[in-house]
Amino acid sequence: MSNEDRLREELVLLGRSLYERGLAHGSAGNLSVKLPDGWLMSPTRSCLGRLDPARLSRLDAQGRLVDGDAPSKETFLHLAMYGERADCGAVVHLHSVHAVAVSCLAGLDASDVFPPITAYAVMQVGRLALVPYFPPGDLALADAVRKVASRHKAVLLANHGPVVSGSSLSAAVDAVEELEQTARLMLLLEGRRTSLLDPGQVAELERRFPA
Ligand code: 13P
Repeated sequence: MSNEDRLREELVLLGRSLYERGLAHGSAGNLSVKLPDGWLMSPTRSCLGRLDPARLSRLDAQGRLVDGDAPSKETFLHLAMYGERADCGAVVHLHSVHAVAVSCLAGLDASDVFPPITAYAVMQVGRLALVPYFPPGDLALADAVRKVASRHKAVLLANHGPVVSGSSLSAAVDAVEELEQTARLMLLLEGRRTSLLDPGQVAELERRFPA
């Protein structure tokens, strides 16, 4: 099996896994993974639980379709992540419930949405940036992501959902799952007296385990 065929299978497998565990629903969300000369992407309006490896959109390095079904309307958003982050090997965008709920809260810190609740959130998500609301697929949304992507591997689109980059597809999926879990914890803890990691503990994690 070629490396590209392996990546096609992996994208389909991880999409199904996200769908079957309720992290993706309907046709919401999209996944992409880098190839030596471009990238593979889930087609627009496809269900992440039922992707066909042979019909994935194959794009060139500029994000132009070269083979397969029409790509996600968020292609430019993924392109922004690849363009700004040299180590980016994959991008995952979800509408997972708890992350979307947090994306609708008022008064968030746009450069660091989550309080430092757990070590893994610091290690795998890092400082989560909030990007203002634009309609799905809007070029202005991709531009807003491009502005923060070099400093943040994970961004939260206001009233929409998370976008996470990773060195590989499995790393990006692990990180978006950690993001969803952290959003859930943040909501569970809201209004309770909470003991957070202190700045020294966060700095040590950032030094030893950069996100
Ligand atoms: P696509 O079906 O075009 O990938 O769009 C789904 C989505 O999640 C938009 O934000």
